[in-house]
Amino acid sequence: MFAREGTKVVICDVSAELGNEVVKMLGPDARFYKVDVTNRAEVQQWVDDVVARFGRVDILVNNAGITRDSYLSALLLLVFDTCSTTALPA
Ligand SMILES: NC(=O)c1ccc[n+]([C@@H]2O[C@H](COP(=O)([O-])OP(=O)(O)OC[C@H]3O[C@@H](n4cnc5c(N)ncnc54)[C@H](O)[C@@H]3O)[C@@H](O)[C@H]2O)c1
Repeated sequence: MFAREGTKVVICDVSAELGNEVVKMLGPDARFYKVDVTNRAEVQQWVDDVVARFGRVDILVNNAGITRDSYLSALLLLVFDTCSTTALPA
């Protein structure tokens, strides 16, 4: 939707394969960065680069997330930590 309206769209994902696939659909003005949102240094570097290139960020969509559905009794602490440390910083 943003790309169709002429907005400069910058996306990030931990998966280069998915990100490159999506950025092709968005058109030649879109840009993809491989970023792990659980890594603050990577996120900061990404934001700094976007601001340096485009001047500012007008709209931010935080959509990275993972799910590992299970019954609460079977939900391992590791799974809880992995999901929450991805969704919360994102
Ligand atoms: N699909 C649903 O029904 C639904 C319902 C409620 C909430 N949500 C939430 O909406 C968001 C998107 O859901 P979706 O169904 O589009 O999920 P999805 O799995 O299709 O997309 C999530 C994307 O996040 C990326 N990602 C995962 N970990 C990352 C990381 N550490 N750094 C950068 N990127 C990372 C994945 O590679 C993937 O491309 C998630 O946060 C999800 O929890 C989804």
